[in-house]
Amino acid sequence: MKEDAILVVDDEKGQREILKTILANQGYEVSTSPNGMEALRLFKETPFDVVLTDLKMPGWDGLELLRNILKEKTPVSVVIMTAHGTINSAVEAMKFGAFDYLVKPFEMDELLVVAKKAVEKTHLLKENTFLREQLEERFSIDGIVGKSGMMWEVFKILKKVCATNSTVLIYGESGTGKELIAKAIHYNSPRRDKPFMTINCAAIPETLLESELFGYEKGAFTGANARKIGLFEAAGGGTLFLDEIAELPFALQAKLLRALQEREMRRLGGKDNIKIDVRIIAATNKRLEDEIKKGRFREDLFYRLNVLALKLPALRDRPEDIPLLLDHFIKKHTGTLNKKITGVAKDAMEILLKHNWPGNVRQLESTIERAILLADDGEDIDAKLLPADITRQAFQGSRLDFDIPYGGISFEELEKELIIKAMEKTGFVIAKAAQLLGMSYKTLQYRLNKFSIQKGAGSVAKGLSYTPNKALDTLNEAEKEKI
Ligand SMILES: Nc1ncnc2c1ncn2[C@@H]1O[C@H](COP(=O)(O)OP(=O)(O)OP(=O)(O)O)[C@@H](O)[C@H]1O
Ligand SMILES: [Mg+2]
Repeated sequence: MKEDAILVVDDEKGQREILKTILANQGYEVSTSPNGMEALRLFKETPFDVVLTDLKMPGWDGLELLRNILKEKTPVSVVIMTAHGTINSAVEAMKFGAFDYLVKPFEMDELLVVAKKAVEKTHLLKENTFLREQLEERFSIDGIVGKSGMMWEVFKILKKVCATNSTVLIYGESGTGKELIAKAIHYNSPRRDKPFMTINCAAIPETLLESELFGYEKGAFTGANARKIGLFEAAGGGTLFLDEIAELPFALQAKLLRALQEREMRRLGGKDNIKIDVRIIAATNKRLEDEIKKGRFREDLFYRLNVLALKLPALRDRPEDIPLLLDHFIKKHTGTLNKKITGVAKDAMEILLKHNWPGNVRQLESTIERAILLADDGEDIDAKLLPADITRQAFQGSRLDFDIPYGGISFEELEKELIIKAMEKTGFVIAKAAQLLGMSYKTLQYRLNKFSIQKGAGSVAKGLSYTPNKALDTLNEAEKEKI
């Protein structure tokens, strides 16, 4: 449906035609209907921005139509047209959710003003519905994916944190979801209908940071041509998210502390104290305790911010969340990229589970987004769709951490050494060692017997502890040539 579409509902043909001509002349897309039921059918087919309906009509009257249209829960403004004697009903209609009413006979200008306002109102409604849908989808706690014990801990704290007004300090490596969590806290808190404002302390030059936070009065400095409201005021009643708080310059740390302690601030160049009503959420990927030791962060501010601390675990420490996150991101990006992807193939999954994800969830997300982009429609994401650096690292991780000595080694010795290593690594739990080695419990048991491997046996194939360089050092030049 094109924007600015109006449906005119009137039982009088002449009236319908006049309204249609006037409105169409103004560039609206106009449809007409002689009765309420037909109007509702048209509306269900293609929602209109505005429905302009007569009040008195045979069959459904304007009120009945209004009621049915509002049931559709589509953003729309309904305007009721009424004769002079029935204004009371029109007022009644507004109580039921009509946007406005026009008393017949009305001037063309009057009609156009009301139509314009009605269209604008619908645009606003649409925007709000869109925002709300976006928010509900992305920022409810349910939008944060994780089932690992570590994430359950986060959810538990999150639930408590949301209900309070306390300052929260979120700590986590880059890409672990600090901003996502900050938004979740705001949108699940009693402040959800007020603004959520963000400032990245690392991204804004020191000179601007202060005026961004506190605003300024006209003439506070050269170039201050008009009063500017800072974030503390703009986020009034809501939440202010101070991202990368460790990067806040030392001088400003003192100012922030004062504002938080006194719940008051002044605009730059201002004389009046202004009350502050914001909840502060701060985030950092640096350990503030270390920054304090280095003299870069004020200890008193740290304690002000660290009322409730939330530590987000690195992705490498919770690989059990990876399949869930993959699912989530595949759903998210197949939608936006308009592709069907069946899932993640075994080879790719193994690599993704082994990777150490220095960029955490953000890196996982971009890896998957890229793979979806490269994949053919209807295909699985397999290893060849993953970036080379990720594939390489996974294989490096599984490479044997010892070399073959120059004296050579038999496969039997190698096998024995591997089994000993696996048994030692798993504390002599046969089932676990078998899993590591990719052999069955029975096979491993048989081999253990065959090689007489027992707890405390230690490494038997001594040759394996040589490193080639050391071995080379003990050889003379002629011997090296032969190798
Ligand atoms: N648990 C999670 N579930 C779903 N999506 C997540 C999760 N954690 C992070 N993400 C997604 O990963 C991306 C990075 O998250 P976010 O920007 O919140 O991280 P950050 O910690 O603020 O990163 P940086 O330190 O780099 O600013 C976002 O797209 C976010 O939606
Ligand atoms: Mg961030």
